[in-house]
Amino acid sequence: MSDNLHQLRCFGCGVRIRGDQAGSIFRCADCHDLFEVEYPGWSSAGGTDRPNAGALKWLWRERKTSSELLDHSGVWRFRELLPILESFGNAVTLREGNTPLYHLPRAAKALGIDQLYAKHQGMNPTGSFKDTGMTAALSVAKERGFEWVACASTGNTSAAMAAYAARAGLKCLVLIPQGKIAWGKLAQSMDYGAVTCQLNTDFDGCVRVLSTIVQEAPIYLLNSVNPYRLEGQKTPALEIAEYFDWSVPEHILVPGGNLANSSALGKGFREMKALGLISRLPKISVIQAEGANPLAKSFRLNDGASIEPVSAQTRATAIRIGNPASWRKAAHVIHETGGSCIDVTEGEIAVAKAELGREGIGCEPASAVTLAGLKKLSAAGKVAASDTVVLLLTGHTLKDADYTIDFHRGTLLQAEEAAPMLPQIEALRRNAVEVEATPKAVLAALEQIQSRWV
Ligand code: F0G
Repeated sequence: MSDNLHQLRCFGCGVRIRGDQAGSIFRCADCHDLFEVEYPGWSSAGGTDRPNAGALKWLWRERKTSSELLDHSGVWRFRELLPILESFGNAVTLREGNTPLYHLPRAAKALGIDQLYAKHQGMNPTGSFKDTGMTAALSVAKERGFEWVACASTGNTSAAMAAYAARAGLKCLVLIPQGKIAWGKLAQSMDYGAVTCQLNTDFDGCVRVLSTIVQEAPIYLLNSVNPYRLEGQKTPALEIAEYFDWSVPEHILVPGGNLANSSALGKGFREMKALGLISRLPKISVIQAEGANPLAKSFRLNDGASIEPVSAQTRATAIRIGNPASWRKAAHVIHETGGSCIDVTEGEIAVAKAELGREGIGCEPASAVTLAGLKKLSAAGKVAASDTVVLLLTGHTLKDADYTIDFHRGTLLQAEEAAPMLPQIEALRRNAVEVEATPKAVLAALEQIQSRWV
């Protein structure tokens, strides 16, 4: 029996097609907008495959103690909400998902918020949230018989794609912007055996090149325009709701780059509400870096009605994206949930990242925009003290160790970028010092450093 109960619906004009009719660039033939996966059997007007909320909650809890491989995945444990495969036996999994939700007591105290948490998607098998989407979309590629998969990437999508392709025995092509991705991510793509091409352009340029390639060759596109990616990436919403015993937090903050992740989380919460698993939606706010802020700009100018691409510049290279593909979906989620879209400076990102580090929760710079954004939203009165707030941390701290080292050495920021944040930066910096290899010298260094740092 087929597990496959889905169809694709164009987000722009609403046209509905079969899953295998989307074409190689996943754009609507009529209006050129993106598709999203839809499950017609869930319709409240007599849908025949509509899952029962109580039964699902029980089943998903039971699977936590199951010995079946698929149940060990934090994505496929929820497979009733992503019936996208002919057979779940085709799922390619690295035990993704099941990521921790950490309490952040220091940041909570500093902001006067009772309940502040970090959902750390960097604790996935390849160190980023991309694994949850990749297990879904790459499984579709495998099931449909593709031999090659490809993506353009700022580094994390390519790392995830390369790993899952290797597991599935598929070949993969990675296009990355030359010199603009963190070394850790480049290393992963090489390690997992991808054909890795560094192009002399930015992420948006890599996307343009790849769009042409996949229309000429039988290569399956695994960028987040592929709607199956979002089906996997919606499962952290399920994990968050389950963690809070199906009473959702008031506010979730997500970094914004190509804007698929915010779209996916919004879809996850929307579907849970429609199925009666939760009774309301959390606000979902998207935070961008000031130098890569097309959606934040658009919200300032016209409340997210249209977007002007920007030439993106930020040290948070994961979100160095000027022309985000999923902006309409993300804008819809922000409006639907009552969230905001704002941007934060390079200095604010660096300080927020170091503060998260000091809570024992490292993350990559793009993830830290969430804490920087929360400070701004809180100062603007958009977060109440009694709110439960979750920051979506998207990548592991070891992805971009250079950034962290440069921050602590004091070489990361230009003087004018650091100037507004200087006291915080100086209080957080913990540069390593060179010391003679004797106990006396180490103890002397300890005394000297301690007096400076307190
Ligand atoms: N955080 C990290 C660590 C990322 O790698 C990305 C995107 C984002 C946030 C933004 O998510 O694009 O869904 O809004 N990285 C992509 C990549 C583009 O190629 O790895 P988004």
